[in-house]
Amino acid sequence: MAGAPDAPYPNTEGHPSLPEPAGFGMLLPRILVPPPGPRSLALAERLVRSEAPAISTLANGDRPVVWHSAAGSNVMDVDGNVYIDTTAAFGVASVGHRHPEVVRAVQEQAGRLLHGMGDFSPAEPRAALASRLAAMAPMQPATVLFGLTGSDAVELALKVAAVATGRPGVIAFDAAFHGQSYGALAVTGREHFRAAFAAQLGRHVLRAPYPYPYRFDGSPEDCAAASLDAVEHLLAGPPPTSGPVGAVIVEPVAGREGEIVPPPGFLRGLRALCDQYDVLLITDEVYTGLGRCGRVFAVEHEGIIPDLLCAGKALGGGMPVSAVLGRADVMAAWRPVTPEAPHASTFLAHPVSAAAALAVLDIIATEQLVQRAAQCGHQLRGLLEHLAARHPSAGQVRNLGMMAAIELVRDRATRAPAPELIAPVLAAALERGVILLPGGMHGNVLSFGPPLTIREEQLEFAVNAIDEALTVTGQ
Ligand SMILES: Cc1ncc(COP(=O)(O)O)c(C=O)c1O
Repeated sequence: MAGAPDAPYPNTEGHPSLPEPAGFGMLLPRILVPPPGPRSLALAERLVRSEAPAISTLANGDRPVVWHSAAGSNVMDVDGNVYIDTTAAFGVASVGHRHPEVVRAVQEQAGRLLHGMGDFSPAEPRAALASRLAAMAPMQPATVLFGLTGSDAVELALKVAAVATGRPGVIAFDAAFHGQSYGALAVTGREHFRAAFAAQLGRHVLRAPYPYPYRFDGSPEDCAAASLDAVEHLLAGPPPTSGPVGAVIVEPVAGREGEIVPPPGFLRGLRALCDQYDVLLITDEVYTGLGRCGRVFAVEHEGIIPDLLCAGKALGGGMPVSAVLGRADVMAAWRPVTPEAPHASTFLAHPVSAAAALAVLDIIATEQLVQRAAQCGHQLRGLLEHLAARHPSAGQVRNLGMMAAIELVRDRATRAPAPELIAPVLAAALERGVILLPGGMHGNVLSFGPPLTIREEQLEFAVNAIDEALTVTGQ
């Protein structure tokens, strides 16, 4: 059904840019019109008419603000409202949005070579990035494989494990978000992402409970032990129909499922089980990696070394690039047996993304963002705990570095999840100029993962805004 042609949108066609306020990136919010403002609404209406509903909630009636520009820890919407971004856009903008060094690297590379030719003729920055990442990998000696998305990295790691062990089975967890392309979806836990495709997803995955101390009746030690027992039971029990288990995949902190921080000792126990049963341990650090949790990689908190580690999100500073860092001997198992590479992808190790990633690694080092994440994480924890003490709906506050969550409940005694509270709190926070992310396997978590460069004043403002949002929504 052809509708009337869209009227030109005044602010993006003809007037491509809204002026940015001085200091944009480091500012406290500036709300000019209640969000979503008229321009956001107009763009959302336009989008909902031409975009299929699978990739947004616009079809459900949601009307998000439409982003115009972002720098540092600020986002400006198309109506000129300036927000503090506590999400780093799904953890991507760890070095801050539009970091000038990332932009410089992108512009410089784009002006020289915009695209390489995959396995056939590699581009220059790929070699530099491969050696940088191999050198910083927890397992040594290490080599790397590149993808564009977190899902790519997960699938590459699963492929390497299948080839290296000759065993296709995989153990994954119930609280697990590893991406939504088919291979990654097979290990992702959330049923409603998987249900429509169940018949097309491999039968190679066994599922264990992720240790979720807040929702476990017992001590954190018992919680970790129960998960480890379940994993051992799977390792010792009958294999999946497709064949024996060759790998376990785990997030060191279950990110999208609600920033669930497993009890100390869990990852060490998992490592020990993998050794005992001779299976590979894949840690998915697409979210937790590159400083987010106060260490370069979150596994360092437990002092364990995975066989394969997936990185993505923050790596490109806003450009799409992901990587698997892996034990060189394991990675070496997957190699060409014909004149063609056994794995290729048109945009693999895209030179512009690789140049951006090299800039990101420099920024993390020079701005000491790993240390900063540890310090700010501590401060954030204090602020959130203070807030939680004033709101009975705040059932638990948890964090590892700058990956934090408040879990909202109907009452603290039963810990019954309160997903219905999330949308009003998000809206009230947005009105106060703070962008928050909903999360959690029960849909009742306020997720917090700001740029690691966020200023103290911005962090305090954001937590105060959540405090107010909880108050005005009666929580
Ligand atoms: C831990 C983890 N792994 C993998 C992915 C998938 O990454 P992408 O969306 O880039 O495919 C995500 C995305 O949120 C993630 O959090």
